[in-house]
Amino acid sequence: MKNISERLEIGRERVFLDFVDSTNTYALTLAEKGYPHGTVVVANMQITGRGRLGRRWHSPPDKNIYMSIILRKPKGLSLLTLMAAVAATEAIGFWTPLPIMVKWPNDIMAQSREDREFKKLGGILSETRFSGNKPDYTVVGIGINVNSQREDFPPDIIHSATSLRIATGRSIDRHRLIEDLIGSFERWYKILQKGHKEDILDAWKDISLTTGKEVAITTEGRVIKGVAVDIDGDGRLLLRLPSGIIKRIDSGDVVHIR
Ligand code: BTN
Repeated sequence: MKNISERLEIGRERVFLDFVDSTNTYALTLAEKGYPHGTVVVANMQITGRGRLGRRWHSPPDKNIYMSIILRKPKGLSLLTLMAAVAATEAIGFWTPLPIMVKWPNDIMAQSREDREFKKLGGILSETRFSGNKPDYTVVGIGINVNSQREDFPPDIIHSATSLRIATGRSIDRHRLIEDLIGSFERWYKILQKGHKEDILDAWKDISLTTGKEVAITTEGRVIKGVAVDIDGDGRLLLRLPSGIIKRIDSGDVVHIR
């Protein structure tokens, strides 16, 4: 029987940092230097944490999880970010009976105790470097608000963000949650590498807050409204426009209307 560290691919090599500009930027540099597949970078704070669509990711010290994972030659790239959201949601679910859901494409959402609204608990930022037209490596960054208090959030996200501490009323050991994140990531990543895309899509659909909702999506500089009917085999959102036409959305910013 192999011991755990021999069995695990993800997290066999780990880099812990007190602070860093962004764990994704750092992990991309390590990947370029030849660090192995599965290397995990974790920081206690980020100075310029990065979110999707060029946004910043609020990353104060001592509270939350900022981690990035190097994946060499990943298969199923189009579903990698959705897979990471499924894995993170599963791991967080070990720590709370509250429903943890996803908003397309990869926002991790928890229901707030205060107003029952789903608010953003975490997010995923995947960045890929190609060699020719094949992915050489991807860095998957996972940010989770763990022990932030309401007053820790800046004014622009104070009403839309939450943390596990706010949602559950208790503080959570970040290191134990990181272990669970690594374990879930390893399991779901293997499923994706074996080509079982349907399992990833089904798992994502089971926890989707977006499908079935009327949404407004900011994409390619304009706002499109419609009903989010499903996702396709590559994780694109299928939006039914008022005309009845189904439009595929690659990326964008979603607001749930109802
Ligand atoms: C988003 O929802 O916009 C994605 C947020 C991703 C944040 C994480 S924190 C760890 C990693 N390093 C970064 O700079 N960003 C990701």
